[in-house]
Amino acid sequence: MQIARSIAEMKALRSKCAEPVGFVPTMGSLHEGHLELVRIAVRDNPVAVVSIFVNPTQFAPDEDYKAYPRDLDRDLAMLDQVKTGIVFIPDSQDMYADGYNTWVDVNGITGKLEGKARPTHFRGVTTVCNKLFNIVQPHQAYFGQKDAQQAIVIQKMAADLNMNLEVVVCPTIREKDGLAMSSRNTYLTGSERIAAPVLYRSLCLASDMFSNGERDAGVIRKAMIDLISQEAAAKIDYVSVADLQTLSEVDKIEGNALASLAVRLGKPRLIDNIILG
Ligand code: PAJ
Repeated sequence: MQIARSIAEMKALRSKCAEPVGFVPTMGSLHEGHLELVRIAVRDNPVAVVSIFVNPTQFAPDEDYKAYPRDLDRDLAMLDQVKTGIVFIPDSQDMYADGYNTWVDVNGITGKLEGKARPTHFRGVTTVCNKLFNIVQPHQAYFGQKDAQQAIVIQKMAADLNMNLEVVVCPTIREKDGLAMSSRNTYLTGSERIAAPVLYRSLCLASDMFSNGERDAGVIRKAMIDLISQEAAAKIDYVSVADLQTLSEVDKIEGNALASLAVRLGKPRLIDNIILG
């Protein structure tokens, strides 16, 4: 496994890579969800590049940029285990030099769901992914369904900007009790961790209702809210049944839809989703 600690080092390694190149952007603090993306990238490409960069521009000032869990030695050991070719670990001064002032902004869909609670978040994500794509020049980039809106926004950016890149979306990896793996799960206290699978239970309920023929999105949303409300510690931010392209709420589900939710459990805010249909 080779390690590039600067943009210049990454570009030098990239110029010698066998192709196609698969790429998994991450913010580190890795878990099985990340590793599954890396395994798929390694399986499908002669070279898999993984970036570890806690991107400051996607955190609002009141969010957890400073506190975000970081453990580089552990991450590198995990990446070595799954046969990662190159790990790219830029620092923020290299990525955002003084005077940095260029932004990539996907409009419309970034104002929905997560974008309502985090209005500057997706601009940071699309900007950093665009920069990482320019540096790494991957043929395929792998994203998790766990962050469904992020994956949809990146696909839209790649299409709108005519990028020579396939965005591959991979399934959500879960703990045994259904909780979607997330670096932020480490913030949960013991009792919050016990309550946390209620998110997945509510998504399974939505999926069962859909399978049994329910197409009224309002009825599904209400059933999800009622289930989550049984956990006293759970504070709902949103429960959504939305169109998969526009992310607008739907009344009647035609074909398929994205059921998604954000719930606060104490301090941590957890998100999850499932596709209906
Ligand atoms: P991060 O939260 O580290 O996630 C990196 C990738 O792992 C994302 O594509 C995310 O959807 C995926 N992932 C996280 N948990 C997962 C799970 N349980 N199952 C499957 N995939 C999972 O998302 C980011 O970083 C950043 O926004 C980034 C794209 C790196 C830009 O800074």
